[in-house]
Amino acid sequence: MGRLVVALDGPGSSGKSSVGAAAAREVGYRFCDTGLLYRAVTWLAESRGVSVDDPEGLVGLVDDVQLASDADGRLAGVLVDGIDHTADVRAPAVDSAVSAVSAVPEVRSALLQRQRDLASGGGIVMAGRDIGTVVLPDADLKVYLDASVTERARRRAQERRLDPDGLAAAAILEALRRRDHLDATRQVAPLRIAPDARIITTDGNEFDETVTAVVGAIRDAEARHVPETGGSGDAS
Ligand code: DC
Repeated sequence: MGRLVVALDGPGSSGKSSVGAAAAREVGYRFCDTGLLYRAVTWLAESRGVSVDDPEGLVGLVDDVQLASDADGRLAGVLVDGIDHTADVRAPAVDSAVSAVSAVPEVRSALLQRQRDLASGGGIVMAGRDIGTVVLPDADLKVYLDASVTERARRRAQERRLDPDGLAAAAILEALRRRDHLDATRQVAPLRIAPDARIITTDGNEFDETVTAVVGAIRDAEARHVPETGGSGDAS
């Protein structure tokens, strides 16, 4: 069967990483969560005291970041100088600073080729914000996972075992709204739905239902996919 390039975009906490990883596993593809690259640069900038107003300093951090592959080929971990920092890059301090860092055009261009190289060879689900629009505009399949901001905030609060009516849950909702706004209004590669994306709305879905929908979209695309022969006029 085909080894497609699948772009999986969507807003923060739409389930791209968990759904994408599970779907990739089911179809035997690699998985890459590109948000980790932006998170890792943000974390490293904070730990090394590099300001968001220093594009050169930020770009200088990019080569120190590596994504780590697990046994299933999922690039879902972060290594800096060979040390695993996956948990650190998901800390709330990174959540609040990452939109500003990822709006820096120099950071985006420094990460662009990295992401394209990772996707080369196909057989990959790549998750992010601008994968279908900028990083891999020729992806074989583009999926946009959507969910309302309240649903996303509710899921995140549940993951963190917070009281859904408490202050911490309200702060999550506010932070997500802020991040949505920043991601959608930045100058370079804002969060947009690619015109040829298949939109999967996940409000009210169980996790497995969304995975099944994404796997179904990949299987459909594989069935439709005509491998490039490189030649022309092959009538056989
Ligand atoms: O998906 P996430 O929440 O881990 O992403 C973290 C941030 O990185 C998010 O605020 C926007 C940015 N990002 C991006 O600009 N482009 C991507 N392809 C992936 C993430």
